[in-house]
Order: sequence, then structure tokens, then C-alpha cells
Amino acid sequence: MSEQQDDKKLWSGRFAEQTDALVEMFSESVSVDRRLYAHDILGSIAHAKMLAAVSVITDAERDAILNGLEEIRLDIERGDFLWSAELEDVHMNIEARLTDRIGEAGKKLHTGRSRNDQIATDMRLYLRDRIDWIVALLNTVRCRLVDRAEGEVDTIMPGFTHLQTAQPVTFGHHLMAWQEMLGRDADRMQDCRKRVNVMPLGSAALAGTSYPIDRHMTMELLGFDAVTENSLDAVSDRDFVIEFTSACALIMAHLSRMSEEIVLWASPQFDFIELPDSFCTGSSIMPQKKNPDVPELIRGSSGRVTGDLVALLTLIKAQPLAYNRDNQTDKEPLFDAIDTVEACLRLFADMMPLIKTKADRMRTAALSGFPTATDLADYLVRKGVPFRDAHEIVGRSVAYGIKNNKDLAEFSLDELQQFSSRIEDDVYQILTLEGSVAARNHIGGTAPEQIKAAVRRARAGLDC
Ligand code: ARG
Repeated sequence: MSEQQDDKKLWSGRFAEQTDALVEMFSESVSVDRRLYAHDILGSIAHAKMLAAVSVITDAERDAILNGLEEIRLDIERGDFLWSAELEDVHMNIEARLTDRIGEAGKKLHTGRSRNDQIATDMRLYLRDRIDWIVALLNTVRCRLVDRAEGEVDTIMPGFTHLQTAQPVTFGHHLMAWQEMLGRDADRMQDCRKRVNVMPLGSAALAGTSYPIDRHMTMELLGFDAVTENSLDAVSDRDFVIEFTSACALIMAHLSRMSEEIVLWASPQFDFIELPDSFCTGSSIMPQKKNPDVPELIRGSSGRVTGDLVALLTLIKAQPLAYNRDNQTDKEPLFDAIDTVEACLRLFADMMPLIKTKADRMRTAALSGFPTATDLADYLVRKGVPFRDAHEIVGRSVAYGIKNNKDLAEFSLDELQQFSSRIEDDVYQILTLEGSVAARNHIGGTAPEQIKAAVRRARAGLDC
């Protein structure tokens, strides 16, 4: 952080003493909120245009402000801007430099505005952009999942409940399940955007302003959908930050669940997939190791984002209206959630096409654990046995299979008929893995035909 001799506080009029050095370090936020510079400048440009339109400033003053702000934006982008901790935050840094640059007109920019409505506006403008980017990233991951699923509609793997073999499913079905989870996340982000895209500017410090401002003009210039209806609420509301972070935490929970499955599948015990070397690391001591670090780090990062959400909820919970300085501390958890989600989604998008499927291993694993037991019960029901009785009959058959180390498909017809005389030769086709998955042929089911249809629907919705 660079500092300048002449960085006089913009609020120093009523103060006789200098700010304590430790207090200054403790209370500055520019080291964090400078990230909002582009959106702060956008808000100021719209505010200055509006002030000129309602004749609070002259057109010449407006033009000087707009030019000055544009130059400041370029300076910041070039790395030529001197950020000062003494000037506290992004707003006062930019405003002070504007006045250094253009003189008197710069001092008029803050007319009819407060940092309280300014920061709320900056954050909404910034978040709107982040939401659009996160939705794009979510959709990229979803398209990669759809691509992979399309290639795996006939690949059979064990489906689990309680992590015990339950029924065979197709790998394409599993990948499309992930796609569904991320689809809800994208919807949630879009829904959150509606509440983000409302303009607090004009609320000023807390009560509004005595200038004849035109909030609808500023709203339109900034692309907001509406203006906030209550100035006290508008300067203190951080619901939109919490709601957004909560949507981020849920994205991370989903990515963490997906990562957990990848970690399991890549283990020698499952051995369903192989991860690319470029996404793994080795061990410093065990030469044979290839560790699934990327999914592990993503799984671990979900804890951070949950922490960010809890920090924000705790931050807001006992605040009286209206603005309180506590709110300044919302930036670190918010930015952390954004950075984490964006990085993890990008990694997932890059990793998905590189994962190799071991279809033989998946099939072999799907054969053990009596995966077609439900199919046998359903077969008996079709032959007129009530489901509860069928369940009992198959349970006894499974016990026999465990004892004799045989799958149901390996029983002879005589062996099967010990448990029910209704069983006939046609039973064998439903005891195969392929027969089992093909039988679940309705929307939402695991049959290859259904996965193909789900892929088509997803592609149409995602345009990929
Ligand atoms: N840096 C502050 C924040 O992030 C801006 C608003 C400060 N307002 C105030 N009255 N001190 O919340």
C-alpha cells in the first residue's frame, strides 16, 4: 500500500486529532475493496450524469468528472494508480484522486450521495457480473458432463444406496445426475440475480437526499431492473450477499459430492476411472502413489465457502438499522466465496473430458452384490405373486446365493424353482445387468434410451 503526504481525510473537518496509526490499519478497506474500482467508477459516472440532468452540477462539471474518472480507470488498469490506506476505501481513493486531477468539479461528485448507498450499489453491480460469469461456468461444466454422458449411455456400473450395491445403472445416468444438480445451481444463481439487480443509489446515508435526484435515470444508466423502495433498508441490506454466498455454498457442496465420488472411483479398490496425470500429484515417500489432489482440494474448499456463509449470516444478525461499519467486513468472505467457486468450476470443466472410464471394471463391480434382486422380485409380481411375498422369496434366494457364492443369474432353473414354482426359463433375461437397466425405461429411469433423451433435452436447454 503506497501512501502520500497530502492524503487528507475527506471527512476530517470536525476532527482535531489525527487517526491513531493502528486504527487506520485496522479500519482501512482499500486493500480489499479496490477490487470494486470498475463498478465504483461506473456508479459515479451514472451519478454525475444524473446530477447534471437535474442541474445540480453543470454540464461542464459533469464532463470534467467523466473524463477524470475515465483516466483514473485507465491508470488503475495500467497499475499506475497510487492506492492509499489513509484514504480508507476504494470510494475515497478514487474521489480524492479525481479532485487532485480535475480540481473543484471533483469535489461535487459526492453531492446527494453517501458511501453507504455507494458501496451497496458497487457490490450489486459487481455481483451481477460475477453471477453471469458463474452461470456461464456452471453451464460449461454441465455441457462437459452431457458430452461425457452421451458416450457412456451403455456403460453399466453399480448404483449405490448406503454405498452398498443396490441396482445397476448406466454411467451416463450418473453423470447426468451431476448435471441436474448443477442445473439447479444455475437456476438459483439466476433467481438470486433478480434481487441483486435493484438499485440502492439515491438512498444516500440512510434517509434519502434533499436534492431533486432522478433515481430512475440512474437506474436505467446502470442497467438495474428497479430501485430500492426504502432507504433505511437499502443501505443496510446485505441479504443479496448472503443469498449469493448461500448459492455458492450449495454449488460447493455439489462439487464436493462429485469430487468424493471421483476420489473413490479413482482408488485401486474401486478402479472405475483413471484421472489424468496433469490433475494428480505423487507422494514424496511412496513411489507408487498418484493422488487425486484436485478433487480432494475441491472437496476441502466446500468447507471454506460454508464458513464464508456462516461469517456473513453472523455479521448481519444483530445489526440495528441502518448502515453499520460491520458491513465493511462482508468483502473478504464474499470475495473468497467467489474466487473459490470460480476456480473449482473451471477445474471441473477442464478435468471432465480427461477422465478415462474403465467400463470393464465398472461392469465387473456391478455383477457382485446381487444387483438384480429387485428385478427378480418384479418378475415374480408380474407372475401374480404379491410384492411382499416376492420380496421374501428373493431374500431367501439371496441368502442361498451368499452361502453358495453364486449370483442369481448363475442359479440353475431347479435352484431358482426351490424358492418359487412360478419361476420359468424366461427369468434369465431379466437377471442380466443389461436387462435390468433396459427395463427402467421411463422418464428419469436409467435405461440407455432414456439417457439419450435426457442428453438431447439438456443439450437443447444448454445450447451445446
Ligand atoms: N468501506 C465501507 C464499507 O465497505 C464503505 C461505507 C462506509 N461508510 C461509513 N459511513 N463509514 O462498508
